[in-house]
Amino acid sequence: MHNVREKIGIYPGSFDPITLGHLDIIGRSSKMFDKLIVGVLHNPNKKALFSADERVKMIRSVTGHLCNVEVTSFEGLSVDFARSVGAHVLVRGLRAVTDFEYELQMAQTNHAMCPEIDTIFLTTDLRYAYLSSSLVKEVAYFDGNIEMFVPAEILPLVKEKVMEETQK
Ligand code: PNS
Repeated sequence: MHNVREKIGIYPGSFDPITLGHLDIIGRSSKMFDKLIVGVLHNPNKKALFSADERVKMIRSVTGHLCNVEVTSFEGLSVDFARSVGAHVLVRGLRAVTDFEYELQMAQTNHAMCPEIDTIFLTTDLRYAYLSSSLVKEVAYFDGNIEMFVPAEILPLVKEKVMEETQK
């Protein structure tokens, strides 16, 4: 049973890998809830660079200073995940208008499926408005510098993983 008075939010995503933009959203949204649960989607149909467990570990290692943040992986629908942890708010970051249409559709579909859960959008910090995990991976694959895109703690892990992949 969940403590009904506790305000719980979820921040679902792929986080493959977590970027500074994600971390900024986690830090800001964690202040809005008693507990923020970062949900790492494990999608067996989509090949990710990092396994869900690796992504969870990386996010834990960079959010250790935020004491009301928990990180866990989930499978299936975000709204089912939200329900299972007693969350009523789903957080998403909006970088630019290009995100808007898809995010709006997703929020409305989620709301139709689960009216007790609302999506809130945080505008990303302008410093990270262009950032995405896919571009970070692309830059890393071509041995570009990703220092200004990902938290310092995970930088060696991303480089190592990309190197492993390119040697396959
Ligand atoms: O980081 P991403 O890839 O932009 O995150 C997308 C995510 C994980 C939030 C979205 O794909 C999702 O919620 N997937 C789980 C399945 C689901 O609930 N789909 C939305 C139904 S409208």
